[in-house]
Amino acid sequence: MRLSCTNLISAEQLTYEDTQLVMRIAADMEKVCLGGGDDRLRKKILASLFYEPSTRTRLSFESAMYRLGGEVITSDGFQFSSLYKGETIEDSIRMVCGYADIIAMRHPQLGSAAVAAAVSDVPFINAGDGPGQHPSQALLDLFTILRERGSVEGAHVAFVGDLLYGRTVHSLCALLSLYQGVRFTFVSPKELAIPEKFTASLRKNSIPFTESNDIGDALAADILYSTRIQKERFADEAEYDRLKHVYVLDAQKVSRSKAIIMHPLPRVGEITTDVDSLPNAAYFRQARNGLYVRMALLALMLDAV
Ligand code: NCD
Repeated sequence: MRLSCTNLISAEQLTYEDTQLVMRIAADMEKVCLGGGDDRLRKKILASLFYEPSTRTRLSFESAMYRLGGEVITSDGFQFSSLYKGETIEDSIRMVCGYADIIAMRHPQLGSAAVAAAVSDVPFINAGDGPGQHPSQALLDLFTILRERGSVEGAHVAFVGDLLYGRTVHSLCALLSLYQGVRFTFVSPKELAIPEKFTASLRKNSIPFTESNDIGDALAADILYSTRIQKERFADEAEYDRLKHVYVLDAQKVSRSKAIIMHPLPRVGEITTDVDSLPNAAYFRQARNGLYVRMALLALMLDAV
């Protein structure tokens, strides 16, 4: 069993069948975890290259590798070593290929994942390329929707927050578009609206969507996917300060809604902590699902399923 692609750069590469395969293997991986893991990736090495901060993505990829009996190499000081010294992405990747069997990389530059994958001799996973894509997050988000709602088909999904720079939104929007009957509501300030290329693709595929700047329009959805305003992508700090708390979900708002509340995390004020104990607050379960989905991806891409 294999994915249709050897490298995972963008969610747009994935077919419906690919997503179904990952969902199925991820569900198996949950059982593998309950049994304490297995050894199918013994003697395999993951290079975990994070040129931009990460907690969940990095730790869940590394934990996934260990849970399947593999090893991880990384460099805590990457921001301060090759990137700092001015080495090109291509040179870094050519070198790392000699040390590892698979690479997961996060980099601040849009398009860096495609550049890296083009010179990689081993399977490559984009763990976030600036404001571009974050396909493994989209797969874990899809898995979460399946778990929490029972099905993806026919879902009304509202994305709220920074839809311009939020790479998780870009990737999830592409995956959900593979499913019948899905419709979208995009809620953002006009400065952070979803890029035209995504709405153009929705129009082309006759997928219904609406755009709004009122969070009230998101509360009627089946899934409310809240996101952080991406501070690191703003050239002007005052502009960030003006927009950072534009949409805040609190228990009062959420208890009026039946929506499943998701967030890729970290949250920095978009969801108040009184929401956490509500049954529809799914974001911590979502983060946990990242482990199973990344175990599935590593196993699939290393031919160990
Ligand atoms: C997201 C990311 O890095 O794009 N985090 C994550 O991977 N869980 C979202 C964010 O940083 O806001």
